Amino acid sequence: MKLLVFLLFPILVIGAVLFLSFDHQEQVKVDQHGLTDKQNEQINALGKLEPNQATILEFSQNEALMEAAKNLFISQCASCHGSKGTGGTGPNLTDNEHILVKEVPDIYDVINNGSIAKGMPPWNGLLSKTKLILLSSYVVTLQEQSADEASD
Ligand code: HEC
Repeated sequence: MKLLVFLLFPILVIGAVLFLSFDHQEQVKVDQHGLTDKQNEQINALGKLEPNQATILEFSQNEALMEAAKNLFISQCASCHGSKGTGGTGPNLTDNEHILVKEVPDIYDVINNGSIAKGMPPWNGLLSKTKLILLSSYVVTLQEQSADEASD
């Protein structure tokens, strides 16, 4: 019996160590913008884009791209707008009260140029144009979600 315990104990310890280190390797690495390598590849594959309404609305329907945009939002925007976009020091982005945004492309302009006097930093030069377009699409989905909830 003692021998069995003596043998089992190291096996359990080694097993636990292997399990933990394996689990650790499984974690997906993300860059400073919260994106995985795969998401960066997807974004790079989009090529050169213009921030017009059609493009912004089209991407807002693309699940994989919106997953990437959510990561971007969490890493860049959530500190002020909240992780769900419902607001903090920055305004709620999920409601229908718009301070600066009247039309879809205005979303891009606000993110790109900021509203410096009111505390919204400009992202122009910090994030690529494509990432700013994806963030604009994500802001569209935030408003759609709240519209869905309201109609429930
Ligand atoms: C340091 C805080 C801060 C960060 C970070 C920030 N914002 Fe803002 N944002 C603000 C503030 C404050 C306003 C309100 C500006 C005004 O009233 O003119 C605003 C306004 C906006 C608006 C316009 C809302 C409206 O009602 O018209 C959008 C869209 C927006 N932010 C998106 C983003 C996105 C996307 C990011 C991340 C890339 C981001 N913000 C990061 C503070 C922030």
